[in-house]
Amino acid sequence: MGVSESGVSGPRRRLVMGNWKMHGNLAGNAALLAGLRAGVDSVGNCEVAVCSPFPYLAQVQSILQGSAISWGAQDLSVHAQGAYTGEVSGAMLGDFACRWVLAGHSERRALHGETDQLVADKAAAALAAGLVPVVCVGETLDEQEAGRTDEVIARQLAPVLALGAQAVGQIVLAYEPVWAIGTGRTATPDQAQEVHAGIRALLSALGVPGVRVLYGGSVKAANAASLFAMPDIDGALVGGASLVAEEFLRIAAA
Ligand code: PGA
Repeated sequence: MGVSESGVSGPRRRLVMGNWKMHGNLAGNAALLAGLRAGVDSVGNCEVAVCSPFPYLAQVQSILQGSAISWGAQDLSVHAQGAYTGEVSGAMLGDFACRWVLAGHSERRALHGETDQLVADKAAAALAAGLVPVVCVGETLDEQEAGRTDEVIARQLAPVLALGAQAVGQIVLAYEPVWAIGTGRTATPDQAQEVHAGIRALLSALGVPGVRVLYGGSVKAANAASLFAMPDIDGALVGGASLVAEEFLRIAAA
């Protein structure tokens, strides 16, 4: 197997990705993107990306093209085309030069009934369209309190790992404990590292130890450095704090 986009055979380059969720408007996005573009050169050796709502991808592309910032979407269809009203295909995202697409964010799993298998199918559809899927996994508060974190992550990852080493070597994973998303409650660096190390062990068993594993859940400039100091945390998936250019760039610089 060759070197994947995730950097299988080299040191893992840090990736900080914003997930705007269902936020934004043309005027606000223009200001945010201009701020990111103006400041990205000061963040050092960290890859920076944003995932916007579908209608703004053309705007994101036109403002960010030629910059060091890449972009993507927050979801895609498992289907390539056809009678699927309201769905958006990977090829359509490719038309707007998306590099990334989230798959299986916990809000989609919880609010839109996305199953572990569907998420894996979306990851496969993304790869087929030439996109890098960022597959999100994470346990709920109840699951964490019941000591079931490892079991839940392993279950969520199973159909993704079943895509095989060649596919998994090209993806990015994000560990986002549901109890930490948008709550201001972050996993401690040690808590997150423990889960990331478990995920790394599963990746190593598959022969792709270099896949990047991001942490997500209330990441801010104030806690980013301590999370990034952990050996198996390769960056962050950032929700709320990605909507403010200065704060987001401070996370990337951490
Ligand atoms: P948050 O969201 O940073 O606002 O907690 C993270 C995410 O849902 O990706």
